[in-house]
Amino acid sequence: MARYLITSAIPYINGIKHLGNLIGSQLPADLHARYLRGRGHEVLFLCATDEHGTPAELAAARAGRPVAEYCAEMHAVQARLSQGFRLSFDHFGRSSSPENHRLTQHFALRLAAAGLISEVTERQMYSVADGRFLPDRYIEGTCPNCGFTDARGDQCDNCTKQLDPGELINPRSAISGATDLELRATRHLSLRQSAMRDRLAAWIDGKTGWPILTTSIARKWLNDGDGLQDRGITRDLAWGVPVQFPGAPWTGMEGKVFYVWFDAPIEYIACAQEWVAAGKGRDWERWWRTDRGAGDVTYIQFMGKDNVPFHTLSFPATILGSGEPWKLVDYIKSFNYLNYDGGQFSTSRGRGVFMDQALAILPADYWRWWLLSHAPENADAEFTWENFQAAVNKDLADVLGNLVSRVTKFCRAKFGESVPEGGTWGPREATLAADLGQRLDAFEGHMDAIEIRKAAAELRAIWVAGNEYLQAAAPWTVVRTDPAAAAAAVRLALNLIRLYAILARPFIPDAAAAMMGALGCEDWAWPDDLGAALTRLPPGHPFATPDVLFRKITDEERADWQVRFAGRR
Ligand code: 2FM
Ligand code: ZN
Repeated sequence: MARYLITSAIPYINGIKHLGNLIGSQLPADLHARYLRGRGHEVLFLCATDEHGTPAELAAARAGRPVAEYCAEMHAVQARLSQGFRLSFDHFGRSSSPENHRLTQHFALRLAAAGLISEVTERQMYSVADGRFLPDRYIEGTCPNCGFTDARGDQCDNCTKQLDPGELINPRSAISGATDLELRATRHLSLRQSAMRDRLAAWIDGKTGWPILTTSIARKWLNDGDGLQDRGITRDLAWGVPVQFPGAPWTGMEGKVFYVWFDAPIEYIACAQEWVAAGKGRDWERWWRTDRGAGDVTYIQFMGKDNVPFHTLSFPATILGSGEPWKLVDYIKSFNYLNYDGGQFSTSRGRGVFMDQALAILPADYWRWWLLSHAPENADAEFTWENFQAAVNKDLADVLGNLVSRVTKFCRAKFGESVPEGGTWGPREATLAADLGQRLDAFEGHMDAIEIRKAAAELRAIWVAGNEYLQAAAPWTVVRTDPAAAAAAVRLALNLIRLYAILARPFIPDAAAAMMGALGCEDWAWPDDLGAALTRLPPGHPFATPDVLFRKITDEERADWQVRFAGRR
């Protein structure tokens, strides 16, 4: 038994996430956490909401709510949806927690003590009417490129051009609409990442087994010259971790907070402290401090590709720069994007399926199966309703669901609701067992390597092998001439259902629980000995014929949903 620390990129607090966000980090992290637990390992799986920064402040202002209240509410919403999708976090924390405030300030102190923080003076837009500096997103005006009158200081949503607030025509405050904006000098803290280039490069170079997507992005940023520039880690905002705190070596930083990307990854650690504070665990240092036992932890992070630079360079710079024995990540699994039906998911246009909408139309397992079996691992992937319908109807309803219902119903009709006795394994059964043995090895290999699509394909093949066996053994025909042989086939098939529940559990946990529940079995032990697993349910063991596991998606539903989620223009 080994120990694994797993974190998913922490979702921004503003708004409900779409399926592309879900498959970009949280869902694959959940798959892996569940798999490792299933294999008997000790796992700590953490996620949280990313609550600071301008987007949170802006969303709260738009909702007409104090930002702290808005965040508390949205955290509860996201926590409920995570549970709906059966994301098995050991703790779902908040980057605004007191633990993260303390730890973020602690890291800033350590970095300062190591000479890695400098003070810089910048000129930034100040709104006299609002009495505050305006971050880029708080400035609106006319796009110099397309003439759109509601362009933001960082980007024009109409033509997608990246902008600098200085380029906007007739700039105004997004808060009050005030136009008396002026450039004023403001002081900030900067993290001297450039001073850490060699240490970071050496660390990345040691990571030979990492996915190409991860290392190529990291190396590009390291070598481009651009990536490892010193980085401002403070902002003129009210909501966040205060920069001026008792014991801080700088002065005059009142009214400033740390940049959201400085404190967000620190929440991975603070979340473990929250987990302890919530009474769910006893010792967070065992997972995070190499001087307190975390030396034998394997730490795996999951994230979208846009997050890779922050996790391969910025966060490690914070950790290494502190000079303290914190656990560094061992493996980063990163993802490309999931597109939606010929375009992109769009939060502002309501385009695509969002987590709450998904659960309102179908149970979590349907979505989990499609998303995981189409994870955007090696390239961007695309959600289409045709493809979703086909995968659900074929893989889940026709292959897995059908096997379960056929076997249990036939057994009930001919032998009653308990595992039938009589008959023995012949060559057909031996061939199936050998085939399953090979496929199980392959499945484990893909799961260990976090090759999610390959693992899903192998799992599907394992289900298909069971169906093909049943088709060939044909107990419904054989029972007329050789009831003992039919009983042996059904006994094996009932044991297959248990095997499938165990293997499928990380992908489709509710269906797996329903299968195991119907078998009246609580033994989820991993089939390390396949022969033993295929005879685990002995003759006479009672079961209950389950309800339909997966229903089919009709063409009408598909057409209706396609229109419903197409978004506003
Ligand atoms: O991209 C995002 O959704 C960010 N909120 C991820 C932060 S991950 C980490 F650094 F905390
Ligand atoms: Zn524009």
